[in-house]
Amino acid sequence: MIRSVVRGFGAALPKRVVTNQELESKVDTSDEWIVQRTGIRQRYIAGEGETTASLGEGAARAALANAGLTPDDLDLIILATSTPDNTFPATAVNIQDRLGMRHGAAFDMQAVCSGFVYAVTTADAYIRGGLAKRVLVIGSETFSRILDWNDRTTCVLFGDGAGAIILEAQEGEGTNADRGVLTAKLRSDGAHRDKLYVDGGPSTTGTVGHLKMEGREVFKHAVGMITDVIEAAFEATGTTAEELDWLVPHQANRRIIDGSAKKLGIPLDKVVVTVDLHGNTSAASIPLALNAAAGDGRIKKGDLVLLEAMGGGFTWGSVLLRW
Ligand code: ACO
Repeated sequence: MIRSVVRGFGAALPKRVVTNQELESKVDTSDEWIVQRTGIRQRYIAGEGETTASLGEGAARAALANAGLTPDDLDLIILATSTPDNTFPATAVNIQDRLGMRHGAAFDMQAVCSGFVYAVTTADAYIRGGLAKRVLVIGSETFSRILDWNDRTTCVLFGDGAGAIILEAQEGEGTNADRGVLTAKLRSDGAHRDKLYVDGGPSTTGTVGHLKMEGREVFKHAVGMITDVIEAAFEATGTTAEELDWLVPHQANRRIIDGSAKKLGIPLDKVVVTVDLHGNTSAASIPLALNAAAGDGRIKKGDLVLLEAMGGGFTWGSVLLRW
């Protein structure tokens, strides 16, 4: 059977680092409050000329170099983002052009913080359905551009960045020993759409808008939703938490990450955490974390890796794969 196997990975971050101490001079907050409630110590913020497309291009080029491939070898680009360069065309076609790719197709996906899990699931469906052989999956965001920098309850939480993987069709045996995506579970429930949203858009206000969040409400639902899709992935494959080599969660908040891992019985030394360095980079957070852990040799070929995310919508999902 055809499996979608990770062939390469990469990431790109803006030049500028903004520490919690720097934010103390902008809004009424403290390093201690931010670290204690979220685990975040710093984030990267895009400067002039740095956009979702430019960061996505950087991550794409790094993933291509890591895979030993060129843009000619790809046939599809899926970009997960909620902060596109323009309302249209899709930022994915901007990246396609920057890469000099003159064939194939490119499109954006919008599932907020779950965007990368949604995009990997979609790429896997294209590959297993025979519609694509190599898919570049990118998560790229510039949330700093939709934050209200006077709102201390949201502006301290987010950062900018991009990460990417290349998925390639390879023959597998159809067992859990295969490399590649083993299962994926996606969910959404629009009844929660007003708990984390942007208060503008082309069809309503004609403006871009700013991020609004009921933090406690998000927190309340997060752990339950995350454990639901992880248990569904275990059930679909007959695997258990003990067999996992790495949990690579969406990096929103250290307390949500620790709470989910504890509930699932996954030891914290098997959890990849980068929220301290990047803040919440929405759809970019999982590929940034994968890049960190695969880049320093923690995640190795053949490891069983679980991705999970939850975000605005609400949307949530998991992907179980063998690296
Ligand atoms: N600095 C200092 N004080 C602050 C700050 C700040 N940046 N922000 C809020 N406060 C104050 C509040 O005003 C409040 O003060 P009060 O008690 O005098 O009214 C106090 O801190 C407590 O506020 P809460 O909102 O109750 O704080 P809480 O402990 O819930 O932490 C947080 C807030 C971190 C947002 C938490 O609710 C959370 O983690 N929620 C999950 C949301 C999340 O992670 N969202 C990311 C996007 S969604 C996703 O990616 C899944």
